[in-house]
Amino acid sequence: PIYMETSSAPTNIATIKYWGKADAKWNTPINDSVSVTLNQDDLKAVTTVAASTAFENDRLWLNGEEEEGAADNKRFRACVDGVRALATEKKDDDGKVLVTKEDWSKMKIHVSSYNTFPTAAGLASSAAGYAALVAALALLFGAKEEFPGQLTSIARQGSGSACRSLSGGFVAWRKGGKKEDWSDSLAEQVADENHWPEIRAVIMVVSDAKKDTSSTAGMSTSVETSLLLKHRADTVVSQRMEAIEKAFLAKDFETFGQLTMADSNQFHATCLDTYPPIFYMNDVSKSIIRIIHVYNKWAGKIQAAYTFDAGPNAVIFTLEEHAVEVGALMLHYYPEFGDKYVNNPDFEKKIKD
Ligand code: DP6
Repeated sequence: PIYMETSSAPTNIATIKYWGKADAKWNTPINDSVSVTLNQDDLKAVTTVAASTAFENDRLWLNGEEEEGAADNKRFRACVDGVRALATEKKDDDGKVLVTKEDWSKMKIHVSSYNTFPTAAGLASSAAGYAALVAALALLFGAKEEFPGQLTSIARQGSGSACRSLSGGFVAWRKGGKKEDWSDSLAEQVADENHWPEIRAVIMVVSDAKKDTSSTAGMSTSVETSLLLKHRADTVVSQRMEAIEKAFLAKDFETFGQLTMADSNQFHATCLDTYPPIFYMNDVSKSIIRIIHVYNKWAGKIQAAYTFDAGPNAVIFTLEEHAVEVGALMLHYYPEFGDKYVNNPDFEKKIKD
């Protein structure tokens, strides 16, 4: 027989950024981070996993194309082997054991994953991808956590930001480090998806090309060369984490937005402080920053807040009551976004639906 399960996970957008690894083997960070998980409708990965003794090898397909050598990939292995270690026996409705824990360990795994958004364009596709992989494997193996958050610590070994995509709402990744095996480096939900339903993310796909410098490579050069990054991790982030979690819980958009923009700017400043420097934002990204500051000045308060990850695409947080205005403002300056998205029948249908 072939045992099969499917799960999906949305991407998340960090408002206090993870940048820099403390331990490359365990993929743990030098500072805490926190993000908003997008809803299940749009930017997500959908992953099907199948297990069978009839399969010869572990194999992986991404968006329909097979990834050669995936079975030996360290990140993939950490997720498959990590979740399988928590497997429980599978029983039928009458309680008869169909698969024992040992049976699971003998099976090979086939994985097929689809993204509903551009891969590696700085829209955290790896976060959704590894979170969906871990979620699907957990269903397949009937995984039982030994402590709360253990599955997030496994997803973190796939991609750091993935640990924050296993739950909705506002999710913090506590850096950990008190335990030798880093099992305390895991994600924790700060507020669930129903806490602040008015919050919106306007996503501007400035470029859907693959990014120049991967996060992993960029982080490693930044840790080696940037003194600003060290200062950020040692003193800035812990204060910001406390303040932004409080702001999110109090639904205080002004504080949330101010901290989000400041942290995005400091992250890109550490990229510039990296030697040789890394540039993720382009001229369009920078003009979006200027427009948002003018808009907030006009409004007399912070009504919209941008953030940029390892790519030029902007995510603008705002509240439901201002979302159409923010979208219209962006279209006014960048009508080409309109040609791509608004005058596109598929997109219009999606919005209507
Ligand atoms: C800028 O999670 O992609 O988006 O752990 O090496 O896979 P790896 O890195 P990744 O880095 C994300 C960096 C970021 C900030 C963030 O999401 O916190």
